[in-house]
Amino acid sequence: MAVTSRTQVGIVGAGPAGLMLSQLLALRGIDSVLVENRTREYCEARQRAGMLEAGTVAALRAAGAGKRLDVEGLEHDGIYLQFRGERHHVNFRELVGRTVTVYAQTEIVKDLIAARLAAGAAIEFSASSVAISDVTSDSPVLSYVDASGVAHEVTCDVIAGCDGFHGISRPLVPGLSLYERSYPYSWLGILADAPPSTDELIYSRHESGFALYSMRSPEVSRLYLQVPADERLEDWSDDRVWSQLQLRFALPGWSVSEGRITDKSITPMRSFVAGPMRHGRLFLAGDAAHIVPPCGAKGLNLAVGDAIVLASALSDLLTEGSSTLADAYSDTCLSRVWRATHFSYFMTSMMHVLPDDPFDDLIQLAQLRYVTGSRPAATSLAENYSGYESPRFEI
Ligand code: FAD
Ligand code: DHB
Repeated sequence: MAVTSRTQVGIVGAGPAGLMLSQLLALRGIDSVLVENRTREYCEARQRAGMLEAGTVAALRAAGAGKRLDVEGLEHDGIYLQFRGERHHVNFRELVGRTVTVYAQTEIVKDLIAARLAAGAAIEFSASSVAISDVTSDSPVLSYVDASGVAHEVTCDVIAGCDGFHGISRPLVPGLSLYERSYPYSWLGILADAPPSTDELIYSRHESGFALYSMRSPEVSRLYLQVPADERLEDWSDDRVWSQLQLRFALPGWSVSEGRITDKSITPMRSFVAGPMRHGRLFLAGDAAHIVPPCGAKGLNLAVGDAIVLASALSDLLTEGSSTLADAYSDTCLSRVWRATHFSYFMTSMMHVLPDDPFDDLIQLAQLRYVTGSRPAATSLAENYSGYESPRFEI
C-alpha cells in the first residue's frame, strides 16, 4: 500500500528549473513536493553551465539564493571573439548597459537545495518508479518509491515536469509539435586546476575548430573544444587537449595556462523545441521542453526563466483562481525560447568549422567582421547574450 499525501504542486526533477520553481512557489506561500531520481551528490556535482544573464542573477537573489553568488560570482562586462589571429572585445556594459556573471550550475544547484532544506522542504532524492497520472483531471497524481523503498502517491493541484530532456513528462503531452536540428559536431569540455589567463570568456574560431575559454573561479578554468559528432573521449589524452587549446587560442606573447584536468566529457549539439509546454494540469519547464546548443550559454537561463513565469502563473491559479497567466504560459515561454534558439544557432553557426567548406568559411569571416566592426551588430549580439526579455520575479 502506498503512503498517500497532498500538495499543491508536484515537481519532477531537482535541476535548476525544478529547484527554482519550488523555491519561488514557497516564497508565495505555495507548497510543493520535489522528486528526483538521482542522489543529492550527483545533482550537485554534474558539470554543466556557467554563464548567467543579468536577469538570472537578479532572480536568484530575489529567490534568496544569491548570497554566495554575490561573493563568488565573477561579473564580466562582455566577451572576446577571436578569429584569424585577432581578438576583439564586445563590451555588453557599454553597448546595452548589462553585464553577465560566471557562476557554475553546480553551485546554483547547491545553493537552491540548501535554501529549500533550510526552509524545511523535503526533496526526495534517489526516488525510483516516478510516474505521473490523471493530468487532465483537477487532481493529478505524482507517485514514486522513496530511497528507503516506501511507495508514495501524492495528489496535487498541478504537476511541473522539470525532468530534463530524457524525463518522463514530455511524452505525456499528446500532439506535441517537435522542432529539431542536430549539428555535425560535439563539445569536449574540461575542468582544470589552472588560473584562467584571460579576464573574460574567449570564443575562438580557428581553422582546426571552435574553442571556448571559460572559468569557474580565479583558480579553475573551464574550456571547450569542437570535436566531430561521433568523437570518443578515449581518443583525447590530456596532452592532446592542451595542444589543441594552445593552437586554437594562439596569440603572440599569450598562452592558455595549463593544470591538472579534473573532469572531461563530450556533449552533442542539438536544438530542440517542443510545444505546447502544457497539457491539462501538467506544465513542462526547462530542458524537458527545449534544448539549445551550448554556444551562447542560454540553456540554464531559459530553465530559470520558465520557472519564474510558471511560479507567477501557478500563484495566480492556485491562490486567486485566475487562469490567465497559466493559459498564456506556453506561449509566453516559447516566444523567449525561440529567440534564444535563434541566437544559439547564430552563435553556433558563426563559430564552428565545417571541414572543406570554403563558402561557409568566408560567410563566417564576413559575419565575425560585421559583429566586431559594426556597433549595431555588436549591440544585437550583446542584447541577446546578456538576456533579451528575461522574465522578472516579483513577490
Ligand atoms: P536538468 O538540469 O537536466 O535537470 C533535470 C533533473 O530531472 C535532473 O536532475 C534529472 O536527474 C531529473 N530527472 C530526470 N528524469 C527524472 C525522473 N524520471 N524522475 C525524477 N527526476 C528525473 N546553459 C546556460 O544557460 N549557460 C551555459 O553556460 C551552459 N553551458 C552548458 C554547457 C554544457 C557542457 C551543457 C551540457 C549544458 C550547458 N547549458 C548551459 C545548459 C544547461 O546546463 C541546461 O539547460 C540546464 O541544466 C537545464 O536545467 P533543467 O532543470 O531544465 O534540467
Ligand atoms: C560556459 C558554457 C557555454 O556554453 C558558454 O557559451 C559560456 C560559458 C561555461 O560553462 O562556463
